[in-house]
Amino acid sequence: MSLYNKYVLPKVIDWACSQKPSMKQRAKIIPQAQGNVLEIGIGSGLNLPFYAKDALKHLTAIDPSIETWHKNKIDTQSLPFGFEFIKAFAEDIPADSNSFDTVVITYALCTIPDTQKALSEIRRVLKTNGKLLFCEHGKAPDAAVQKWQNRINPLWKHIGGGCHLNKDIPLLIKDNGFKINQLDTMYIPGWKPASFNYWGSAQIR
Ligand SMILES: C[S@@+](CC[C@H](N)C(=O)[O-])C[C@H]1O[C@@H](n2cnc3c(N)ncnc32)[C@H](O)[C@@H]1O
Repeated sequence: MSLYNKYVLPKVIDWACSQKPSMKQRAKIIPQAQGNVLEIGIGSGLNLPFYAKDALKHLTAIDPSIETWHKNKIDTQSLPFGFEFIKAFAEDIPADSNSFDTVVITYALCTIPDTQKALSEIRRVLKTNGKLLFCEHGKAPDAAVQKWQNRINPLWKHIGGGCHLNKDIPLLIKDNGFKINQLDTMYIPGWKPASFNYWGSAQIR
């Protein structure tokens, strides 16, 4: 692992993802998680305060970057629900099939290299009537913004640990065996190429 990814990237990710507009986005989606929950790419744990403790039985969180997870030194013993962190990739989830009521993913599909494999793994571990809750940034609807997203993307990937500016998130979800039940979109305040957000919920088709 490069020194940048080990020492700098966790700070960059935590700083970028903890800006007020994206924290407001988390409040729109995370309280809907219920039962046995899996969070994909938990990063520095910024969603944790938004879970509805009475609705949650247990939270399992995965992320390949233990450095990012350790960034905020979260005392997991003091969380109001059972919690386990596993260093793992979304493309190979270490969990039984049909075992989660909710899978949560925020600002991580942009970064996950094999989204097709990851979404197929999410489908495998999600119960048949379970929910996928997502909040992501991605391809903007305006041609002028898209042009900048495509131009900057090659450089952005290097600074942002593999983050892409221009993924069509709803299309990816729909093309990989899910039916989207709820979808909202808007530019959240901030730099336009990185601020077009999609959030909502999906179920296995
Ligand atoms: C931009 S951060 C978002 C972190 C967190 N989800 C949030 O909302 O603040 C992207 C996260 O995805 C993680 N990630 C990268 N590749 C991944 C993979 N293949 N599977 C799961 N997570 C991955 C990164 O380590 C990082 O923590």
